Amino acid sequence: MVWGVQKPKTFFILLGWGSLVLTVVMLYFPYETKLWKSRNITMETWIKTTNFDNNETVSTSSAWKDNWKQVTNNIYVYSAFWDDRNKPLKSFIRIIAIGPRLGDEHENVSCSIYSQNSKSFIELPITYEMIRDNHSKNYSAMYLFCHLSSGEPTPREVVLRQAPIPLELVKLPIHQGETQNSTKIQDKLAVCVRPFFGPFKNTFALAEFVALYQILGVSHFTFYNYKTSKQVKEFVSSLQDQGLPVELILWNLPKSVAQKTWAFGQMASTQDCIYRHMFVSKYVALVDIDEYIVPRNHRTLLEMIKSLKNNTWGSLVFRNSFFCTKHPVDLKHSKPNLPFTTLRYLTRVKYVSRAYFRSKSIVQPNRVVTGGIHFVWQHFDNWQPFVVPPSECLLHHYRSSICSEASYKSGVEDKTVLKFKDKLLKSKVIKIWKTLKKRNVVT
Ligand SMILES: *[C@@H]1O[C@H](CO)[C@@H](O)[C@H](O)[C@H]1NC(C)=O
Ligand SMILES: *[C@@H]1O[C@H](CO)[C@@H](O)[C@H](O)[C@H]1NC(C)=O
Ligand SMILES: *[C@@H]1O[C@H](CO)[C@@H](O)[C@H](O)[C@H]1NC(C)=O
Ligand SMILES: *[C@@H]1O[C@H](CO)[C@@H](O)[C@H](O)[C@H]1NC(C)=O
Ligand SMILES: *[C@@H]1O[C@H](CO)[C@@H](O)[C@H](O)[C@H]1NC(C)=O
Ligand SMILES: *[C@@H]1O[C@H](CO)[C@@H](O)[C@H](O)[C@H]1NC(C)=O
Ligand SMILES: *[C@@H]1O[C@H](CO)[C@@H](O)[C@H](O)[C@H]1NC(C)=O
Repeated sequence: MVWGVQKPKTFFILLGWGSLVLTVVMLYFPYETKLWKSRNITMETWIKTTNFDNNETVSTSSAWKDNWKQVTNNIYVYSAFWDDRNKPLKSFIRIIAIGPRLGDEHENVSCSIYSQNSKSFIELPITYEMIRDNHSKNYSAMYLFCHLSSGEPTPREVVLRQAPIPLELVKLPIHQGETQNSTKIQDKLAVCVRPFFGPFKNTFALAEFVALYQILGVSHFTFYNYKTSKQVKEFVSSLQDQGLPVELILWNLPKSVAQKTWAFGQMASTQDCIYRHMFVSKYVALVDIDEYIVPRNHRTLLEMIKSLKNNTWGSLVFRNSFFCTKHPVDLKHSKPNLPFTTLRYLTRVKYVSRAYFRSKSIVQPNRVVTGGIHFVWQHFDNWQPFVVPPSECLLHHYRSSICSEASYKSGVEDKTVLKFKDKLLKSKVIKIWKTLKKRNVVT
């Protein structure tokens, strides 16, 4: 029985009451929001209302989940790392943040921890540093440093808020490892790629990237998910289900901030990845999805790294060479249904870019303070950059926008990648992609 038709009176009475309730809710909601925003939250009331557990287990895994949180009107924070490399001189919490490049809003950020010594919350002195490579954007990646006095045990969490009137209190767990015990920093190579945007949809490009770098000795992949298609997400979870070391980390930077920051916060993701891996991987490669560091005389990047005579390097600099992806395709080496970029484009521009210009790096995280897009901005202590000779290794950069007829005519054939062809065709990652393709999960 449809009561609305049978009893029109009841229907209109309910409609009347419904609208009234709706109106009250609508009027109250903005008021409630405003009330909450201007509420004078004290540390004590906040602790009472928040599940604050200073015993939270410490994870040294690089897969630790973080997310962007707002501290002030314009300052957002992502992850916090314990940095005691200057011990016993100083130890501090290094927080990766994004905020206005100019102005003084960061001066109003306050930082607290639960002190094991005094059994209470204490406020820590806070300093900040803008990270370079801002590309004249109005927002920039930055560090906030919370300085700990000596004798205080390493805190597990840090609480940030705007002072004097907090918008909200933000709790960040602190990533920490045992930097003293270097045997735990395994002889591993991880690779990090800047936040996906667009959304990024090319599942085969991702498959090729993971497959080839895995052959080259990479044992962990860290991608950041700003905007990624559903297919890419499903492909990544299939890889994870099959035990492949691939992670797609949440990068929920608000759009308004992302647009005002270079490459959706690439400078922040670069530092996050370096510090995230510091306790896990000895080496971290910082590249884009269309870039491959290809050793010319070794089977893997780790073998190439070990062969280097230089032992004072904190970062290796790989010189860039463009492979134009517009020019005639060499289909001999890849079937049409498996369009491997690295097997199809075997002609590169003769000119190899100079070091530090379009170059990419492999870093030793514990020897680096601030990474950059093309080179490391600041090394720790006296560690140095080392330019790997092009005869040893080149950065293969596959792009269509850089090809000119002239550069192609004078281009040189470079078949280095073909050394890895058989392994690439047999790769487990490619097999997974093919299975998903058959089921139309990826296209
Ligand atoms: C917030 O509350 C504290 C303690 O009740 C008080 O001392 C302080 O003046 C208040 N601040 C503002 C801005 O209302
Ligand atoms: C925190 O850990 C200590 C030592 O492991 C334990 O004695 C204490 O009960 C824990 N506190 C809470 C709140 O779980
Ligand atoms: C910082 O706090 C002071 C004191 O309340 C306030 O006058 C100032 O406007 C704040 N600065 C910013 C950039 O928010
Ligand atoms: C922003 O970048 C420019 C150009 O690289 C540099 O001169 C300036 O110092 C940077 N600004 C900050 C706040 O780092
Ligand atoms: C940066 O901020 C200034 C001042 O608010 C504004 O005039 C300029 O257009 C902004 N630049 C960009 C790239 O958003
Ligand atoms: C370092 O870590 C390894 C592996 O967990 C362990 O066997 C070793 O005892 C540790 N050394 C020190 C000095 O803690
Ligand atoms: C390593 O390379 C750097 C930079 O080229 C150089 O300054 C340093 O002397 C080299 N160290 C050794 C041991 O060869």
